[in-house]
Amino acid sequence: MPPVNPHFDHDRVVWRDEYSGQYEPVAYDAQFDGQWKLFLDGQQGFVRHTGVETSDEYIDDRIEELTGVADYLLRRRYGMLAEAVKRVTGRAARAQRRGIGGRLHLAPKFPIDHFQGKRCLDIGCGAGRWTRTLLALGASVKSVDVSEHGLKSTRRFNSDVERLDLFEIAERRPDLHGAFDFTLCWGVVMCTHDPLVAFRNVARTVKPGGELYVMVYAPTYHASEFVLSSRRHYHRALATPEQRFTYVLELAGEDRDNAINYMDMLNTFYNWTIDEATLNGWYAMCGFEPPVFLNAAEPHKGAHHVLGRKRADARG
Ligand SMILES: C[S@@+](CC[C@H](N)C(=O)[O-])C[C@H]1O[C@@H](n2cnc3c(N)ncnc32)[C@H](O)[C@@H]1O
Repeated sequence: MPPVNPHFDHDRVVWRDEYSGQYEPVAYDAQFDGQWKLFLDGQQGFVRHTGVETSDEYIDDRIEELTGVADYLLRRRYGMLAEAVKRVTGRAARAQRRGIGGRLHLAPKFPIDHFQGKRCLDIGCGAGRWTRTLLALGASVKSVDVSEHGLKSTRRFNSDVERLDLFEIAERRPDLHGAFDFTLCWGVVMCTHDPLVAFRNVARTVKPGGELYVMVYAPTYHASEFVLSSRRHYHRALATPEQRFTYVLELAGEDRDNAINYMDMLNTFYNWTIDEATLNGWYAMCGFEPPVFLNAAEPHKGAHHVLGRKRADARG
């Protein structure tokens, strides 16, 4: 018998804090590992993609999303020649095709020196795109995840990388409590059996006066019938990794270069969506000032990007 799935068995897609404690953890180390392995293997649809890539061009996109500053690494490297390099190498045209879209709506932007000298924690770092972004902006970063290939990928450019299940932070890792100026948890808490407990663990790591940036799915696309029915088929009708991979490619169809998005959507056993009131409640409960919804102005948003500052008098 597969474990009870709240989305398929109980028609629960939007998380409510009263569900806390009702569902079982799954093997989080395996859940995203396949897509990070396919990235490291250079598999089409899993490389040169916004959701994973860590090369300079893509990190410059991430920096632009956060700060509004374009071509930061390129300019650092080529200075006055940057525009010419952009044209000659075809980088300008490639940037058009990437269409980074929604996240350019993030506002307010972080000042370009916001992360300089800060101690940051990237929880659920995946292949490391945000770790590399924060490093490029002058932070020191600790990167944690449970996926072997995610950690392997992130170790290519960060030495402070550790295997850690975020659910262990509160009970077993007092050394991480109140230790960071900025904690980033991008696309992780809603993929767990208990997003409330996950958030509490993550929030513990932030210093009084420090910031917590969380990205979670909003109750829109990820609560749609298409997402629900394809996920139900993937988890309930397909047994082997080969069958599942074939289904990912089938769904991606002509959109093969985007296959990682389909795998990301299908693979997680828990795929909660979280509403604004719940997020406001979590930040307040954990000693934060009312958070800012950075993509409030984004039309048709599939996610919330939330930034909160821990009160100076909050306990670590
Ligand atoms: C959707 S991916 C996001 C990766 C990365 N934050 C990014 O934006 O590129 C979710 C990541 O969270 C990690 N993860 C899931 N459950 C976790 C847990 N309980 N503890 C630590 N990491 C976890 C997965 O292994 C995966 O790498």
